[in-house]
Amino acid sequence: MQNEKVIYDDGDHKCIVFSFDNEETEESFLAVNQYLIIQNKSAILIDPGSQSSYDEVFDGVSRYTDIDNLKYIFYSHQDPDVAGSIANWSVSCGARQIVPKLWMRFMSHYGLMNFNRILALEDKGAKIHFGEDYLHFIPAHFLHSPGNFSLYDSRSKILFSGDIGASITSVYGAKNQNVNFDEIKENMEGFHKRYMAGNKFCKAWVKKAREHDVQIMAPQHGSLLSGEEYEKFLSWFENLKCGGDLIDEIY
Ligand SMILES: [Fe+2]
Ligand SMILES: [Fe+2]
Repeated sequence: MQNEKVIYDDGDHKCIVFSFDNEETEESFLAVNQYLIIQNKSAILIDPGSQSSYDEVFDGVSRYTDIDNLKYIFYSHQDPDVAGSIANWSVSCGARQIVPKLWMRFMSHYGLMNFNRILALEDKGAKIHFGEDYLHFIPAHFLHSPGNFSLYDSRSKILFSGDIGASITSVYGAKNQNVNFDEIKENMEGFHKRYMAGNKFCKAWVKKAREHDVQIMAPQHGSLLSGEEYEKFLSWFENLKCGGDLIDEIY
């Protein structure tokens, strides 16, 4: 079942989350959030998701804007729950597809044949104009993928954090906003400890995140965090021992 919610709207600029849950496979299903930013006649789709959710995401986007207004599609990293639908989107719209440069050559394995509209992000990231404002692609390498970015929208002040801050649960972003960090910490811990590469990277990302005025952190899985709860997450994440820090537990 698809759920959606407008999480920012000032009249000209809007951010929407689309989420899916699956009541039949609730135990094994990982809820995924897809995000859309629209400013007048420009739109960017963030982490559009797997091939199996393509039709529903396409319908969702179409309800808010003409598909021709889709200027960009951003893939924070190469995972199937992020980029599995890249070939579908490349034929159904004229959007430029923004991917970490590290993953470009792998995209043909998702069936992508046309690389003319790919915008490859260098390691340090990029800032692009979006209407009157800008979108800032912030390095999030090794969190968890070796080539990985978060996206900051300067107008809504939303930080689209990808898998950082993901809570592994069947609860989805359109339903659950402004939760207590302490309540969802348990659902984050296992995932972050195993999938994130090490504390050095967590610290580097938190430093970058703190350079921005963030009202909401919107991860690819689970609940959104804002205000004090977001601050609590940053403090937890910058001190988290994970990945290589825990090597003796898995070798
Ligand atoms: Fe991932
Ligand atoms: Fe993910």
